[in-house]
Amino acid sequence: MKPYKTILTIVLCLVLGPSVSALGSTEAQPALQDAFKECFLIGGALNRNLVMGKDPNAAQIAVKHFNTATSENDMKWSLIHPRPDRYNWEPADRFVDFAEKNHMAPIGHCLVWHAQVPASTFRDSDGNNLSREAVLARMKDHIQTVVGRYKGRVKGWDVVNEALSDSGTLRQSQWLRIIGEDYIEKAFQYAHEADPNAELYYNDYSLDVGKARCDAAVTLVKGLQSKGIRIDGVGIQLHGGLTYPSPSTLDYALGTLGASGVKVMVTELDIRTQTRGYRGADVSLVNRQNTSDPNASAAQTQTRLAQKYAEIFSVLVKHRKTVSRVTFWGVYDATSWIGGSPLLFDRNYQPKEAFYAVINTAQGKEK
Ligand code: XIL
Repeated sequence: MKPYKTILTIVLCLVLGPSVSALGSTEAQPALQDAFKECFLIGGALNRNLVMGKDPNAAQIAVKHFNTATSENDMKWSLIHPRPDRYNWEPADRFVDFAEKNHMAPIGHCLVWHAQVPASTFRDSDGNNLSREAVLARMKDHIQTVVGRYKGRVKGWDVVNEALSDSGTLRQSQWLRIIGEDYIEKAFQYAHEADPNAELYYNDYSLDVGKARCDAAVTLVKGLQSKGIRIDGVGIQLHGGLTYPSPSTLDYALGTLGASGVKVMVTELDIRTQTRGYRGADVSLVNRQNTSDPNASAAQTQTRLAQKYAEIFSVLVKHRKTVSRVTFWGVYDATSWIGGSPLLFDRNYQPKEAFYAVINTAQGKEK
């Protein structure tokens, strides 16, 4: 073996070897944000422990690899506004401070969603259902209070999350039932009033796996545009699996959404290692048990994971003029919401085969 190959082998063993102390070898790793700097921003969802200083190894990965960050939970209605008369700012404040301090563009997730919103939002103090006007007023107050607090600091907001049902019609959420279809445009309007310079996004899952939902998102975007409502981008969550999305359905989504004139972002990327069971990302149907896989860390699974990531990133890089940001839904496997082994860093904070496969897709690409 030639000397440089021997050295390379030793370095790779150190980087990949299980006996390496946590993060002992990060200096040798290329940074994702550098590898893709000519293509798109690279980010991750940050959880409360990380931004509060309780997971310093995860923080170190985030600071090295990400130039944008999304709050995994702490800006959602039920966390930031748990009761009609009470806001809980501390964790969200810490998230924005952490992102700014470490040069990551903070993304606000999310203002209006059917999940993680308290039932009391839709009821008066006696438990009676509120009218359309009253719920609209609450939605306006919430959006303006939250967006207003971080005005000029949060780069962009997921204003409406998951408004589409699995078939592509509007989801029968409390928002739709009580306010009506115009809750979507009102939410965007209120957010724009609160911070005229913030980017505003529509975010949803399974836009990358089939035509129906993707086309429905395009219709939604065009509807807002035709009314003169500001919308800057669409977020494809991209909670994938070892067999999906296919390059062709992802290619279709990026091309079609991009053609509607908005930025396209991958906002919640992870690839579950389990091959059976529910495929969507409806939070009421997903949990760590039904998504994790006893073979997640097996070499064969990790190779398949690396191949799927490489395939997805090749399509993203091809569409780099349209794709403005790619955000992983988590930093390392141990804290992923779906369990198993769906991210680029393992439970010991070490980069996996998938990490290097992703880095390789960036080689030689210029805007
Ligand atoms: C998930 C979080 O990761 C979990 O910690 C939480 O328990 C449930 O929500 N789509 C979204 C995200 O838009 O907000 C969800 O995040 C994952 C699916």
